[in-house]
Parts: sequence; structure tokens; C-alpha cells
Amino acid sequence: MRVAVTGANGLVGGEAVALLAPGHDLLAIGRGPCRLPPGRYRWAPVDLADGGALAAALEAFRPEAVLHAGALTDVDGCEREPELAWRVNVGATEQAARACRALGARLVALSTDYVFDGAAGPYGEEDVPNPRGVYARTKRAGEEAALLLAPGAAVARVAVVFSGRAGAKANFATQVVERLARGEPVRAFSDQLVSPTLAASAAAMTCELLLEHRLEGILHASGATVLDRVDFARRVAARFGLAGEIVPVRTADVRLPAPRPLRGGLRVDRAAALLRNRPLAVDEAIDRFHAEWLARGSPR
Ligand SMILES: NC(=O)c1ccc[n+]([C@@H]2O[C@H](COP(=O)([O-])OP(=O)(O)OC[C@H]3O[C@@H](n4cnc5c(N)ncnc54)[C@H](OP(=O)(O)O)[C@@H]3O)[C@@H](O)[C@H]2O)c1
Repeated sequence: MRVAVTGANGLVGGEAVALLAPGHDLLAIGRGPCRLPPGRYRWAPVDLADGGALAAALEAFRPEAVLHAGALTDVDGCEREPELAWRVNVGATEQAARACRALGARLVALSTDYVFDGAAGPYGEEDVPNPRGVYARTKRAGEEAALLLAPGAAVARVAVVFSGRAGAKANFATQVVERLARGEPVRAFSDQLVSPTLAASAAAMTCELLLEHRLEGILHASGATVLDRVDFARRVAARFGLAGEIVPVRTADVRLPAPRPLRGGLRVDRAAALLRNRPLAVDEAIDRFHAEWLARGSPR
């Protein structure tokens, strides 16, 4: 099948490219040069902030399915640059949705647990979003663009994505390992409940949703365990045999540009019932993260 993946240099997009390249005619779309290992895919450098570049790339390739994983994911950066956040998180999703409609292609757009305010999580797909902050609001608007403009589209929400793969972008779990290994303390929020999501698992779930199911609407495709970030950091440290200090911090005590949902997390019953690639419990995800970390340096 002809498949396009955006955000291909990113945590989820990179894993999706690795999964899809062997069996599909794949266009990997990313910012600037490719940072992925070589494989059976074509690369298209596209600036998602450009008002027409993504649509043009998709219309030239004519995919049958599009996984839209590209986004401005720097939550505090979005707060500082709302115009850029809008162009990338809403504008590019709108371009993807319009192109999919024109081509008759299936669209799965990635989104986030941050569409909820964190007053009363964990949240199911039927719960009403109440996004706070620029990242959250632009991601929510992007969801609507995908669902309204692309017939049959699905939105897959993930949360606190982590990966131990060689070349993967720094993420909370890698920061825990690297800081503790250097003998430095790790500060972690004790009052943010989250559903950590292994990037490879998110890619497996969302690619399956894209290619094997017709589900239209929203699916929560995160990890299966809701826990606070201190608990998550401690479990990562324990799996790596790292004994350093994990310092609990309360969100209100840190001046962050963007608000964070506190009682967040996603319920994944629907994904667990639908998908062959089921949401992972956190300890299983951390085991796989550990294996990815050990395999750093060896080819995929
Ligand atoms: N990461 C998380 O914790 C998290 C949590 C909840 C939901 N999500 C959602 O999950 C999806 C996948 O994100 P991820 O976890 O894979 O994050 P990621 O690693 O930050 O991937 C996002 C990708 O988008 C690319 N991008 C950003 N601005 C761009 C631009 N102007 N032009 C072209 N590409 C651009 C980035 O390029 P560069 O690599 O060059 O920066 C990056 O490769 C997104 O929809 C995100 O909102 C992520």
C-alpha cells in the first residue's frame, strides 16, 4: 500500500517508518534531512509550518493512507510561539485532512492527553476536552480539522511518549537514565498523573489503526497504566539498577510557561478491545525501553 508518515524524525513517526518500510511503498516526511537509519522508504523534507508544502507533498505522492505524527510538541515552546504552534499543529493537520479527502486516503492523526484539563482523569474517548494552553488548544483544533475535513479519519491520543532507541530524541525516560547514571538527581512531578506511552507501541497501535481498521473518531492509544511521574521515574531507575535520587516536585512550585493537566491519564479499554497491538502496562513498556537502550549501537 502507498503510505505516508509525517513527523518521521520524531519518536512515534520514526518507529512507524521502521514498522511500515519493509511492507509498503512508504513516503517518510520530516523536517530537513533524514535522521533515521537507511531503509526501503523515500524521504521528503517538508516544513509543516508552510501553508501548502505538506498538501503538495501528499498530492504528489498520492498515498492511500497517512499517519500524521508531525507536531510542535514542545509544550512551553508553543506557549511562547502561538503563531508557529497554530501553523504546525492546526494548519498542517488541516492540509493533511484536505489532501486525504481529495485523494480518498485514510487519515490517522496523532493527538494528546493534554486536550483534557486534568481535573478528573483518567479520561475516556467520550469525555469532553477542555484544553488549557497553546499546545493543548492547537492539538485540540487539529483533532477537529482531521475529524471534520477527512471522511473516515481517526484521531489517536497518546501521552508522555518515551523511547530508548538509538538516535531517538531525548525524552523523560532517557533523561532519568542519563541523569542518574551521571550521579545527578532527577526532579519529577509528584502531582501529574500520566499514561506513559512507549513510542514503538504507539507506532504499532496507530499503524494497525490506520491500515487494518475503519474506526472513525477518537481512540486512546497510550500506555495502559496511569501513574505519577515520580512513580514512573522510580520504575525506570529500578529497571536499570540505578540507585540515585529522585526528587518529588509539585507543579505549582515550578514556574512553567504552559499549564499542565494534573489528574490526567487516558483510559484505553477501547484500544485494548479493538487492537491486536494492545496498550502496554508500564512495566512491560519499561522492559522494552530497557531492551531498546541495550541495543543502542546495533542496527535495527
Ligand atoms: N512526545 C510526547 O510526549 C507526546 C505526548 C502526547 C502526544 N504526543 C503527540 O504524538 C505525536 C507524535 O509526537 P512524538 O512523540 O513523535 O514527538 P516528536 O518526537 O517531537 O515528533 C514530532 C515531529 O514533528 C516534527 N516537526 C515539528 N515541527 C515541524 C515543522 N515545522 N516541519 C516539519 N516537521 C516538524 C519534529 O521535527 P524535528 O524532529 O526536526 O524536531 C518531530 O520529528 C504528535 O501529534 C504529538 O503531539 C506526543
